[in-house]
Amino acid sequence: MIRPATLEDVPALVALDKHAVTAAHWSTEQYRAVFSPNEISRIALVIEDRGTIQGFLVARSVALEWELENIAIAGPARRRGLGTRLLGEFLKAARSRGATAVFLEVRESNSAARRLYEKWAFAESGRRANYYLNPAEAAITYRLDFS
Ligand SMILES: CC(C)(COP(=O)(O)OP(=O)(O)OC[C@H]1O[C@@H](n2cnc3c(N)ncnc32)[C@H](O)[C@@H]1OP(=O)(O)O)[C@@H](O)C(=O)NCCC(=O)NCCS
Repeated sequence: MIRPATLEDVPALVALDKHAVTAAHWSTEQYRAVFSPNEISRIALVIEDRGTIQGFLVARSVALEWELENIAIAGPARRRGLGTRLLGEFLKAARSRGATAVFLEVRESNSAARRLYEKWAFAESGRRANYYLNPAEAAITYRLDFS
């Protein structure tokens, strides 16, 4: 049900991104770049249900730490534990690649995502005022240390 994403999945990732208002919004080119042959510092996963992609996660490594760049689950499939499973699979993959920590930022008002991160024991590490635009909003940064 969870597998590595491929270049062929990009249209599905773009469609999910468009419908997830609070996700980070990337262009098709930015999603395609995740799968460029020399891109070794990325993890991209999709979660499927009966052959249909219901969500994705993209992360990149910054030395031994990983940044969770984006995660989105299709609207009708939310609140069924898919995000929890996808994030868990990513944390396992990052650990197996020697990660020492994972960090991320999220809109302050995005309580669904914040609860998801807290469920996996991410701890708040800071607040950046006016970090996001359209609409302007603060970012809350989270961090999970593996050590
Ligand atoms: C955030 C998101 C990925 C969560 O995915 P999901 O599959 O719905 O998450 P889960 O069903 O695994 O829920 C995990 C926990 O998050 C919390 N949660 C999820 N949706 C919630 C909601 N609407 N309200 C409050 N808490 C919520 C709950 O604590 C939940 O655990 P519980 O069901 O045991 O109480 C999903 O809401 C989404 O795609 N949002 C739009 C994109 C986005 O904002 N991405 C984050 C960018 S930083």
